[in-house]
This record gives sequence, structure tokens and C-alpha cells, in this order.
Amino acid sequence: MGWQTIEIENRTMIYLKTDEEIELLRENNLLVSRALAEVGKHIRPGVTTRELDKIAEEFIRDNGAEPAFLGYQGYPASACISVNEQVVHGIPGDRVIEEGDIVSVDLGTFLKGFVGDSAYTFAVGDVGEEARRLLEVTKEALCKGTAQAKAGNRVGDISAAVQEYAESFGYGVVRELEGHGLGRKMHEAPGVPNFGARGRGPLLKEGMVICIEPMITMGNRAVVFERDGWTVRTRDRKPAAHFEYAVAIRRDGPDVLTDFNIIEQALNN
Ligand code: MF3
Ligand code: CO
Repeated sequence: MGWQTIEIENRTMIYLKTDEEIELLRENNLLVSRALAEVGKHIRPGVTTRELDKIAEEFIRDNGAEPAFLGYQGYPASACISVNEQVVHGIPGDRVIEEGDIVSVDLGTFLKGFVGDSAYTFAVGDVGEEARRLLEVTKEALCKGTAQAKAGNRVGDISAAVQEYAESFGYGVVRELEGHGLGRKMHEAPGVPNFGARGRGPLLKEGMVICIEPMITMGNRAVVFERDGWTVRTRDRKPAAHFEYAVAIRRDGPDVLTDFNIIEQALNN
């Protein structure tokens, strides 16, 4: 099946997916959701982020997929695990999870020629009222953005919805990283910033698949890129949260390919 393509201002192709291709992307992102649930069940005080990475990698491989992050631009692990002040792209290692941590887990799969990419931030035991609210608001900001992901809208409608909601709570919206198109490659056009103006940016069309992934900080929005080449943390070392959905654009609204219910049901059992 050939790809239908359209061209935008900067000459970057946005690949429109067929229904069959969207189902393969759904298969990938449901597997990512199940892998996030599996990792989530093992997040407790004393576990290292390296152990969590192994659980993710094994689960992905046991289900016939490849971990999409491993080796991506030299990335050395299957999961990105970002704790507290780490925003995204934390490299799994010797860091030990503690009671009260918030832990972002970002996972990718490669299965049947397509990529899955979704993320969830977990609370470890009692994280306190402030952190609980940061998690709730970040997840709700993702939902506000997702609600705008329908044909005829523009990327800026998503961006503005995320930004307005998060900032209305006094939180920071990280600007250095953004969401993206998703398909046979993990990062396709268009970029999907978490800040912006309604009515601006690329037009959303039936068959586009994008990842929306707000990164929201409790304090200042400024981030620092660590010298390991990957980890992004808040400059003020206050906590940050990150949730990511893969979403197909349809005429009648967003078709969310990621399933957080799988994760939340696993945590409640
Ligand atoms: N979800 C991440 C993103 O969209 C992917 C992690 S980058 C990797 O940027 F290198 F770890 F793969
Ligand atoms: Co992503």
C-alpha cells in the first residue's frame, strides 16, 4: 500500500495513514500500554531504574516486538525512566526508586513495520498533595490537547489547549521538546509543541497520527540537558511530569491509540 502524502510549508512530508496502518499503530500502542502497566506494577521503593528497563525490554520482546528506543540515535536502553526533577529521556541505571518519587516511564515498540510510543508518570506510594496535583493536571492537559486533535483543526489548537490548561495552575510548560508525528518512524512531521496559538500551525487531516506529550513542571519551565547526552531535568530541580498519547486524527474526533485504563487497572490490582 503506497503512502498518501501532503506537503507543508517547510517541505516536510506528513504521512497520512490508511485504516489498516492505523490498526497496526494501535496494536503497537496497546502493546506499549501493556508494557507500561507491567513496569508500573514493579515500581516500588528499592527497585532500580535498570531493573525496570529490563522488565520493559523483556515484556516487549516476549510479545514479538522490538524496543524502539534501544539504539535510537545511540540511546542505550529500552525505556526512558525520568524520576522527580528529571523531565524526560532519563537513562535507566543504578538510581534506586524511593517512596514519594514520581517516575515517568516512556516506552517504544517496533512491530509489523510501525512504531508505538507512549508514556505515563507513576506515583510511588504517598507523593503528597502537590505532586498528586501535578500528575493530575499534566494528564488532564494531555486530554485537553487530545480533544482538539480532529480534522480541520490545526496543531496550534492542540498546543494552546495544553498550555492554557497547565499554566492556569501556575505550572511551567517545557518548550525545548515537543510531540511528533508517528508511523513507520518514531519521529515524523509534524512537530506538536505544548505551547502555541489557536488556529496556527499545520492543518490536521484525517489519517494523520501524532504523539501528544506534555512535559509540565511544578516550578520554573527552564530545563537543563545533562552531560550524559540524554537526560533532561528541570533547572530548579523541582519535579516534572510527562504523559504521552498516540492519537489518530479522524473527521469525527481523536482516536486515542494508547490505553491508560490498562495501566490504571493494573495498578489497582
Ligand atoms: N518518546 C520519546 C520521544 O518522543 C522517545 C524517546 S527518545 C529515545 O522523544 F531515544 F529514547 F528513543
Ligand atoms: Co514521543
